[in-house]
Amino acid sequence: MAGRFITAEGSEGAGKTTQLAFMRDFLERQGYPVTLTREPGGTGLGEELRSLLLAHRDDGMALTTETLLMFAARAEHLDRVIRPALEEGHWVLCDRFTDTTYAYQGGGRGLPIAQIAILENWVQGDLRPDLTLLLDLPVAVGLARAGKRGMADRFERETVEFFERVRTVYLGRAGQAPERYRIVDAAQPIETVRVQVESLLTQWLERD
Ligand SMILES: Nc1ncnc2c1ncn2[C@@H]1O[C@H](COP(=O)(O)OP(=O)(O)OP(=O)(O)O)[C@@H](O)[C@H]1O
Ligand SMILES: [Mg+2]
Repeated sequence: MAGRFITAEGSEGAGKTTQLAFMRDFLERQGYPVTLTREPGGTGLGEELRSLLLAHRDDGMALTTETLLMFAARAEHLDRVIRPALEEGHWVLCDRFTDTTYAYQGGGRGLPIAQIAILENWVQGDLRPDLTLLLDLPVAVGLARAGKRGMADRFERETVEFFERVRTVYLGRAGQAPERYRIVDAAQPIETVRVQVESLLTQWLERD
């Protein structure tokens, strides 16, 4: 049986990595085989591309280059990890996916959405997440959490306005496709968010 493809989205410090670890345990306890992975990255080459994308560069990076590198890492990830795992019946939990490109390169940096859609269709064919959890919280709260982690990467150095645009695109996309997205109030304490996520997952599992 084919597995399920679930992604976690949201801006810096929203709690994606924290909650995905809980979700893996929650699903495994119910007997589902889980593959937990992340973007950009998830493969050897993908992690090398991630390093290139996140490292600070004095000379910057062209927006087209940034977007193509994201999708290059995604192509590798789909081919080597995501599609094979789904075919084996695994539940693939992915820490960020193409909604991140829409939110960051599209919303944050102003790349036309139509260009991202072309790459999405090319690289993914008709594969889209079955479920996307959007961990939503005020920008300042997320940045304060992420700031405690040490050196800021190339995205974490962006302005508050950049992250406001990221948040707006995420919420807009979730609003347009409510059957695929579930919005989680990520400003709550970790345990409260975990309970919210488990309850959403349970409802989603029982939806039909
Ligand atoms: N609900 C929460 N309340 C308070 N702190 C939290 C909460 N969720 C996560 N944190 C803490 O905030 C920090 C960021 O969490 P986490 O790494 O899970 O976020 P993230 O969404 O994966 O961020 P990034 O996009 O930067 O990878 C961590 O130190 C984590 O322990
Ligand atoms: Mg993370």
